[in-house]
Amino acid sequence: MIQQIDHIGIAVKSLDATIPYYRDALGLGEPHIEEVPTQKVRVAMFDVAGVHIELLEPTSPESPIAKAIEKKGEGIHHIAFKTNDIGANIQKAKDAEIIVLNDPPVPGAHNTQVSFLHPKCTFGVLTEFCQHPCSGDCGCQH
Ligand code: CO
Repeated sequence: MIQQIDHIGIAVKSLDATIPYYRDALGLGEPHIEEVPTQKVRVAMFDVAGVHIELLEPTSPESPIAKAIEKKGEGIHHIAFKTNDIGANIQKAKDAEIIVLNDPPVPGAHNTQVSFLHPKCTFGVLTEFCQHPCSGDCGCQH
């Protein structure tokens, strides 16, 4: 079930413009950067003791992140919980009549499987379940 906060997703217009703040002003070091085609974003990940700050830059105007920035501006976009059984978490949410946006889960960054819950059912917080391929039980830094 849920093991810890995996990451906090932050919508930004430009990774290049934002990375220096996290890397240099906060001193979080070099981020891991990758593209996530399913979400139409480029992601920069900073590891903060196993919890990641995930900067999300839209790669297309169709990206959910582009739409979020249009609507609310840059800023915190979602919170992701790491789980070792995403199917069970999805079922539990559905049993509680929460709208699950991805069932079955879709591929996220870092070979994860992810599923989002609709913010209208979660008191305004876009919520993600995130399962790593190792199930998160091996003690790796994922
Ligand atoms: Co995420």
